[in-house]
Amino acid sequence: MKSYKIALIKGDGIGPEIVDEAVKVLDAVAAHCGFGFQYEELLMGGTAYDITGDPLPQETVSGALNSDAVLFGAIGGEKWDNLPREKRPESGLLRFRKELGVYANLRPAVVYDELVNASSLKPEIVSGVDLMVVRELIGGIYFGEPKGRDENKGWNTMVYTRDEIVRIAHHAFKIAMSRNKRVCSIDKANVLDVSQLWRETVEEVAKEYPEVELTHMYVDNAAMQLIRDPKQFDVMLTGNIFGDILSDEASMLCGSIGLLPSASVGDKIGVYEPIHGSAPDIAGQGIANPIATIASASMMLRFALGENEAADKIDAAIKRALKEGYRTQDLAQFDAKEVCSTSEMGSIIANYIEK
Ligand code: IPM
Ligand code: MG
Repeated sequence: MKSYKIALIKGDGIGPEIVDEAVKVLDAVAAHCGFGFQYEELLMGGTAYDITGDPLPQETVSGALNSDAVLFGAIGGEKWDNLPREKRPESGLLRFRKELGVYANLRPAVVYDELVNASSLKPEIVSGVDLMVVRELIGGIYFGEPKGRDENKGWNTMVYTRDEIVRIAHHAFKIAMSRNKRVCSIDKANVLDVSQLWRETVEEVAKEYPEVELTHMYVDNAAMQLIRDPKQFDVMLTGNIFGDILSDEASMLCGSIGLLPSASVGDKIGVYEPIHGSAPDIAGQGIANPIATIASASMMLRFALGENEAADKIDAAIKRALKEGYRTQDLAQFDAKEVCSTSEMGSIIANYIEK
Protein backbone atom coordinates (compact mmCIF):
# COMPACT_ATOMS: atom_id res chain seq x y z
CA MET A 1 0.00 0.00 0.00
CA LYS A 2 1.22 3.44 -0.86
CA SER A 3 2.08 5.44 2.26
CA TYR A 4 2.86 9.14 2.45
CA LYS A 5 5.10 10.75 5.05
CA ILE A 6 3.38 13.79 6.50
CA ALA A 7 5.12 16.18 8.88
CA LEU A 8 2.61 17.53 11.39
CA ILE A 9 3.36 20.84 13.02
CA LYS A 10 0.54 21.52 15.42
CA GLY A 11 2.04 24.66 16.96
CA ASP A 12 0.36 26.83 19.58
CA GLY A 13 -3.11 27.88 20.71
CA ILE A 14 -5.83 26.12 18.75
CA GLY A 15 -3.18 24.54 16.47
CA PRO A 16 -3.25 21.06 18.07
CA GLU A 17 -7.07 20.91 18.11
CA ILE A 18 -7.52 21.78 14.45
CA VAL A 19 -4.66 19.62 13.17
CA ASP A 20 -6.08 16.61 15.04
CA GLU A 21 -9.36 17.02 13.14
CA ALA A 22 -7.58 17.26 9.81
CA VAL A 23 -5.73 14.04 10.63
CA LYS A 24 -9.05 12.37 11.44
CA VAL A 25 -10.36 13.35 8.01
CA LEU A 26 -7.13 12.37 6.23
CA ASP A 27 -7.25 8.91 7.81
CA ALA A 28 -10.89 8.51 6.78
CA VAL A 29 -10.17 9.44 3.18
CA ALA A 30 -7.03 7.27 3.04
CA ALA A 31 -9.02 4.24 4.19
CA HIS A 32 -11.44 4.74 1.29
CA CYS A 33 -8.83 5.52 -1.34
CA GLY A 34 -6.36 2.75 -0.61
CA PHE A 35 -3.33 4.61 0.66
CA GLY A 36 -1.92 5.39 4.08
CA PHE A 37 -0.13 8.08 6.03
CA GLN A 38 2.84 8.02 8.36
CA TYR A 39 2.84 11.11 10.53
CA GLU A 40 5.78 12.71 12.24
CA GLU A 41 5.11 15.45 14.77
CA LEU A 42 7.53 18.36 14.72
CA LEU A 43 7.81 21.38 16.98
CA MET A 44 7.51 25.02 16.01
CA GLY A 45 6.48 28.31 17.57
CA GLY A 46 6.01 29.19 21.22
CA THR A 47 5.65 25.58 22.31
CA ALA A 48 8.92 24.75 20.57
CA TYR A 49 10.57 27.69 22.33
CA ASP A 50 9.29 26.53 25.72
CA ILE A 51 10.65 23.03 25.20
CA THR A 52 13.88 23.69 23.28
CA GLY A 53 14.66 27.40 23.63
CA ASP A 54 14.26 27.84 19.85
CA PRO A 55 10.99 28.56 17.99
CA LEU A 56 12.35 26.54 15.05
CA PRO A 57 14.52 23.62 16.15
CA GLN A 58 16.79 22.26 13.41
CA GLU A 59 15.05 18.84 13.60
CA THR A 60 11.87 20.52 12.43
CA VAL A 61 13.52 21.74 9.24
CA SER A 62 15.21 18.41 8.53
CA GLY A 63 12.07 16.45 9.44
CA ALA A 64 9.98 18.59 7.11
CA LEU A 65 12.45 18.25 4.24
CA ASN A 66 12.34 14.51 4.78
CA SER A 67 8.56 14.31 4.37
CA ASP A 68 6.20 14.41 1.39
CA ALA A 69 4.35 17.45 2.76
CA VAL A 70 3.86 19.52 5.88
CA LEU A 71 0.49 20.05 7.52
CA PHE A 72 0.68 23.02 9.82
CA GLY A 73 -1.70 24.42 12.46
CA ALA A 74 -0.88 27.86 13.83
CA ILE A 75 1.68 29.55 16.04
CA GLY A 76 1.97 32.52 18.38
CA GLY A 77 0.34 33.95 21.46
CA GLU A 78 0.63 36.77 23.96
CA LYS A 79 2.72 34.60 26.22
CA TRP A 80 5.68 34.95 23.85
CA ASP A 81 5.08 38.54 22.69
CA ASN A 82 7.83 40.06 24.79
CA LEU A 83 10.62 37.76 23.73
CA PRO A 84 13.43 39.16 21.59
CA ARG A 85 12.36 39.16 17.94
CA GLU A 86 14.41 36.11 16.87
CA LYS A 87 12.93 33.98 19.68
CA ARG A 88 9.34 34.84 18.84
CA PRO A 89 7.09 32.13 17.36
CA GLU A 90 6.53 34.22 14.21
CA SER A 91 10.28 34.34 13.56
CA GLY A 92 10.30 30.54 13.64
CA LEU A 93 7.58 30.43 11.00
CA LEU A 94 9.30 32.97 8.76
CA ARG A 95 12.62 31.11 9.00
CA PHE A 96 10.79 27.87 8.26
CA ARG A 97 9.19 29.29 5.10
CA LYS A 98 12.58 30.63 4.00
CA GLU A 99 14.45 27.36 4.66
CA LEU A 100 11.85 25.40 2.71
CA GLY A 101 11.90 27.97 -0.09
CA VAL A 102 8.10 28.17 -0.23
CA TYR A 103 7.92 31.38 -2.20
CA ALA A 104 4.32 31.06 -3.42
CA ASN A 105 1.46 31.23 -0.96
CA LEU A 106 -1.86 30.29 -2.53
CA ARG A 107 -4.90 31.50 -0.65
CA PRO A 108 -8.21 30.68 -2.31
CA ALA A 109 -11.31 32.51 -1.12
CA VAL A 110 -14.39 30.66 -2.23
CA VAL A 111 -17.82 31.48 -0.84
CA TYR A 112 -19.80 28.36 0.04
CA ASP A 113 -23.42 28.72 -1.18
CA GLU A 114 -24.56 27.50 2.23
CA LEU A 115 -22.84 30.43 3.91
CA VAL A 116 -23.78 33.41 1.75
CA ASN A 117 -25.59 34.88 4.74
CA ALA A 118 -22.55 34.57 6.99
CA SER A 119 -20.54 37.28 5.28
CA SER A 120 -20.66 40.79 6.67
CA LEU A 121 -21.43 41.83 3.09
CA LYS A 122 -24.74 41.45 1.26
CA PRO A 123 -25.39 37.97 -0.19
CA GLU A 124 -25.63 39.30 -3.77
CA ILE A 125 -22.14 40.80 -3.47
CA VAL A 126 -20.46 37.64 -2.20
CA SER A 127 -22.47 34.83 -3.75
CA GLY A 128 -20.28 33.07 -6.33
CA VAL A 129 -16.99 34.64 -5.24
CA ASP A 130 -14.09 32.40 -6.26
CA LEU A 131 -10.74 34.12 -6.18
CA MET A 132 -7.16 33.16 -5.45
CA VAL A 133 -4.59 35.34 -3.76
CA VAL A 134 -1.10 34.40 -4.95
CA ARG A 135 1.14 35.95 -2.34
CA GLU A 136 4.93 36.11 -2.53
CA LEU A 137 6.02 34.59 0.79
CA ILE A 138 9.77 34.73 1.36
CA GLY A 139 10.70 38.25 0.31
CA GLY A 140 9.50 41.81 0.59
CA ILE A 141 9.36 43.82 3.80
CA TYR A 142 9.20 40.67 5.96
CA PHE A 143 12.79 39.84 5.08
CA GLY A 144 14.39 42.99 3.60
CA GLU A 145 17.59 44.47 4.97
CA PRO A 146 18.38 46.74 6.62
CA LYS A 147 15.99 46.30 9.48
CA GLY A 148 16.31 47.06 13.13
CA ARG A 149 15.34 49.30 15.96
CA ASP A 150 16.76 51.40 18.69
CA GLU A 151 14.94 53.28 21.36
CA ASN A 152 13.53 55.98 19.13
CA LYS A 153 13.48 54.42 15.71
CA GLY A 154 12.37 51.21 14.06
CA TRP A 155 12.96 50.36 10.39
CA ASN A 156 12.27 47.68 7.80
CA THR A 157 12.95 47.61 4.09
CA MET A 158 10.66 46.50 1.32
CA VAL A 159 12.90 45.00 -1.32
CA TYR A 160 12.23 42.74 -4.28
CA THR A 161 14.67 41.59 -6.91
CA ARG A 162 13.62 41.07 -10.50
CA ASP A 163 14.19 37.32 -10.15
CA GLU A 164 11.90 37.07 -7.15
CA ILE A 165 9.14 38.91 -9.01
CA VAL A 166 9.59 36.83 -12.16
CA ARG A 167 9.29 33.61 -10.15
CA ILE A 168 6.06 34.51 -8.35
CA ALA A 169 4.55 36.11 -11.47
CA HIS A 170 5.03 32.88 -13.47
CA HIS A 171 3.31 31.02 -10.68
CA ALA A 172 0.34 33.39 -10.75
CA PHE A 173 -0.01 33.26 -14.54
CA LYS A 174 0.14 29.45 -14.55
CA ILE A 175 -2.60 29.30 -11.94
CA ALA A 176 -4.66 31.80 -13.93
CA MET A 177 -4.35 29.53 -16.98
CA SER A 178 -6.13 26.79 -15.03
CA ARG A 179 -8.81 29.25 -13.86
CA ASN A 180 -10.49 32.22 -15.54
CA LYS A 181 -7.31 33.57 -17.12
CA ARG A 182 -7.27 36.91 -15.34
CA VAL A 183 -4.47 38.26 -13.15
CA CYS A 184 -4.75 41.47 -11.18
CA SER A 185 -1.33 42.49 -9.88
CA ILE A 186 -1.39 44.54 -6.69
CA ASP A 187 1.21 47.18 -5.90
CA LYS A 188 1.78 50.73 -4.72
CA ALA A 189 3.67 51.86 -7.81
CA ASN A 190 2.49 55.45 -7.41
CA VAL A 191 4.65 55.74 -4.29
CA LEU A 192 7.14 52.88 -3.99
CA ASP A 193 10.15 52.18 -6.23
CA VAL A 194 9.97 48.52 -5.33
CA SER A 195 6.42 48.48 -6.68
CA GLN A 196 7.51 50.16 -9.91
CA LEU A 197 9.94 47.31 -10.52
CA TRP A 198 7.20 44.86 -9.55
CA ARG A 199 4.78 46.31 -12.12
CA GLU A 200 7.34 46.46 -14.96
CA THR A 201 8.49 42.91 -14.29
CA VAL A 202 4.97 41.48 -14.12
CA GLU A 203 4.28 43.19 -17.48
CA GLU A 204 7.30 41.41 -18.98
CA VAL A 205 6.31 37.99 -17.65
CA ALA A 206 2.76 38.53 -18.93
CA LYS A 207 4.05 38.50 -22.51
CA GLU A 208 4.62 34.76 -22.13
CA TYR A 209 0.94 34.25 -21.30
CA PRO A 210 -0.94 36.01 -24.10
CA GLU A 211 -4.20 34.32 -23.14
CA VAL A 212 -4.18 35.82 -19.66
CA GLU A 213 -5.61 39.28 -19.15
CA LEU A 214 -3.36 41.32 -16.85
CA THR A 215 -4.52 44.37 -14.91
CA HIS A 216 -2.81 46.36 -12.16
CA MET A 217 -4.31 47.87 -9.06
CA TYR A 218 -2.93 49.97 -6.23
CA VAL A 219 -3.21 48.13 -2.95
CA ASP A 220 -5.43 50.73 -1.29
CA ASN A 221 -7.87 50.57 -4.18
CA ALA A 222 -7.71 46.75 -4.12
CA ALA A 223 -8.71 46.73 -0.45
CA MET A 224 -11.73 48.81 -1.39
CA GLN A 225 -12.62 46.88 -4.56
CA LEU A 226 -12.47 43.61 -2.67
CA ILE A 227 -15.48 44.59 -0.61
CA ARG A 228 -17.19 46.69 -3.29
CA ASP A 229 -17.23 44.01 -6.01
CA PRO A 230 -15.16 40.93 -5.16
CA LYS A 231 -16.41 38.99 -8.18
CA GLN A 232 -14.24 41.13 -10.46
CA PHE A 233 -11.18 39.17 -9.25
CA ASP A 234 -9.81 35.85 -10.44
CA VAL A 235 -6.12 35.71 -9.44
CA MET A 236 -4.72 38.50 -7.26
CA LEU A 237 -0.91 38.59 -7.46
CA THR A 238 0.67 40.31 -4.47
CA GLY A 239 3.89 40.83 -2.55
CA ASN A 240 4.29 39.49 0.95
CA ILE A 241 2.68 42.12 3.16
CA PHE A 242 -0.05 43.20 0.74
CA GLY A 243 -1.10 39.57 0.39
CA ASP A 244 -1.09 39.07 4.15
CA ILE A 245 -3.52 41.93 4.56
CA LEU A 246 -5.74 41.30 1.54
CA SER A 247 -6.13 37.59 2.26
CA ASP A 248 -7.46 38.32 5.74
CA GLU A 249 -9.87 40.78 4.17
CA ALA A 250 -10.91 38.21 1.54
CA SER A 251 -11.69 35.72 4.29
CA MET A 252 -14.57 37.85 5.53
CA LEU A 253 -16.23 37.57 2.13
CA CYS A 254 -16.57 33.90 3.02
CA GLY A 255 -18.07 34.43 6.46
CA SER A 256 -15.28 33.35 8.78
CA ILE A 257 -11.51 33.29 8.75
CA GLY A 258 -11.92 29.78 10.14
CA LEU A 259 -12.76 28.54 6.64
CA LEU A 260 -9.79 29.56 4.53
CA PRO A 261 -7.00 27.13 3.66
CA SER A 262 -3.66 27.83 2.06
CA ALA A 263 -0.78 26.14 0.32
CA SER A 264 2.78 27.42 0.43
CA VAL A 265 4.84 25.93 -2.32
CA GLY A 266 8.25 26.31 -3.93
CA ASP A 267 10.85 23.98 -5.33
CA LYS A 268 10.94 21.57 -2.40
CA ILE A 269 8.33 20.50 0.14
CA GLY A 270 5.02 22.36 0.44
CA VAL A 271 3.39 23.62 3.64
CA TYR A 272 -0.38 23.42 4.00
CA GLU A 273 -1.98 25.59 6.66
CA PRO A 274 -5.09 27.58 7.53
CA ILE A 275 -4.68 31.31 6.96
CA HIS A 276 -5.86 32.13 10.49
CA GLY A 277 -3.73 32.40 13.60
CA SER A 278 -3.49 30.45 16.83
CA ALA A 279 -6.46 32.21 18.52
CA PRO A 280 -5.12 31.79 22.07
CA ASP A 281 -8.32 33.34 23.46
CA ILE A 282 -10.35 30.28 22.43
CA ALA A 283 -7.65 27.62 22.69
CA GLY A 284 -8.54 24.46 24.58
CA GLN A 285 -12.28 25.19 24.56
CA GLY A 286 -13.13 22.92 21.65
CA ILE A 287 -14.89 25.71 19.74
CA ALA A 288 -12.39 26.48 16.96
CA ASN A 289 -13.49 25.85 13.39
CA PRO A 290 -11.34 23.04 11.94
CA ILE A 291 -12.59 23.54 8.36
CA ALA A 292 -9.69 25.77 7.23
CA THR A 293 -7.22 23.10 8.30
CA ILE A 294 -9.27 20.26 6.82
CA ALA A 295 -9.49 22.20 3.55
CA SER A 296 -5.70 22.73 3.74
CA ALA A 297 -5.29 18.96 4.03
CA SER A 298 -7.35 18.69 0.86
CA MET A 299 -5.01 21.16 -0.89
CA MET A 300 -2.11 19.01 0.32
CA LEU A 301 -3.62 15.90 -1.25
CA ARG A 302 -4.17 17.75 -4.51
CA PHE A 303 -0.94 19.72 -4.88
CA ALA A 304 1.67 17.70 -2.99
CA LEU A 305 0.46 14.13 -3.43
CA GLY A 306 -1.56 14.27 -6.64
CA GLU A 307 -4.46 12.49 -4.89
CA ASN A 308 -7.16 14.56 -6.59
CA GLU A 309 -9.96 12.10 -6.00
CA ALA A 310 -9.27 12.07 -2.27
CA ALA A 311 -9.15 15.86 -2.25
CA ASP A 312 -12.50 16.01 -4.05
CA LYS A 313 -13.98 13.70 -1.42
CA ILE A 314 -12.84 16.02 1.38
CA ASP A 315 -14.17 19.11 -0.37
CA ALA A 316 -17.52 17.40 -0.92
CA ALA A 317 -17.68 16.27 2.72
CA ILE A 318 -17.04 19.84 3.96
CA LYS A 319 -19.81 21.15 1.70
CA ARG A 320 -22.20 18.46 2.86
CA ALA A 321 -21.54 19.23 6.55
CA LEU A 322 -22.30 22.90 5.89
CA LYS A 323 -25.33 22.07 3.79
CA GLU A 324 -26.75 19.89 6.55
CA GLY A 325 -26.49 22.89 8.85
CA TYR A 326 -23.57 21.90 11.06
CA ARG A 327 -21.77 24.98 12.34
CA THR A 328 -18.97 25.69 14.77
CA GLN A 329 -19.32 28.69 17.13
CA ASP A 330 -17.93 31.24 14.66
CA LEU A 331 -20.82 30.52 12.29
CA ALA A 332 -23.48 29.64 14.87
CA GLN A 333 -25.75 32.54 13.87
CA PHE A 334 -25.88 31.58 10.23
CA ASP A 335 -28.50 29.01 9.27
CA ALA A 336 -27.27 26.56 11.88
CA LYS A 337 -29.25 23.40 12.38
CA GLU A 338 -26.78 22.24 14.98
CA VAL A 339 -23.85 23.97 16.64
CA CYS A 340 -20.98 21.57 17.11
CA SER A 341 -17.57 21.44 18.71
CA THR A 342 -14.23 21.31 16.91
CA SER A 343 -13.99 17.55 17.23
CA GLU A 344 -17.64 16.96 16.35
CA MET A 345 -17.15 18.93 13.14
CA GLY A 346 -14.07 16.83 12.33
CA SER A 347 -16.01 13.61 12.92
CA ILE A 348 -18.98 14.77 10.86
CA ILE A 349 -16.75 15.61 7.90
CA ALA A 350 -14.81 12.34 8.30
CA ASN A 351 -18.13 10.42 8.29
CA TYR A 352 -19.27 12.21 5.16
CA ILE A 353 -16.25 11.02 3.16
CA GLU A 354 -17.80 8.97 0.39
CA LYS A 355 -16.78 5.40 -0.19
C1 IPM B 1 -0.08 34.52 7.92
C2 IPM B 1 0.29 35.05 9.27
C3 IPM B 1 1.80 35.16 9.36
C4 IPM B 1 2.25 36.14 8.30
C5 IPM B 1 2.38 35.55 10.73
C6 IPM B 1 1.89 34.63 11.83
C7 IPM B 1 3.86 35.61 10.72
O1 IPM B 1 -0.34 36.26 9.52
O2 IPM B 1 0.35 33.41 7.58
O3 IPM B 1 -0.82 35.20 7.21
O4 IPM B 1 2.21 37.36 8.50
O5 IPM B 1 2.63 35.68 7.22
MG1 MG C 1 -1.76 36.81 8.04
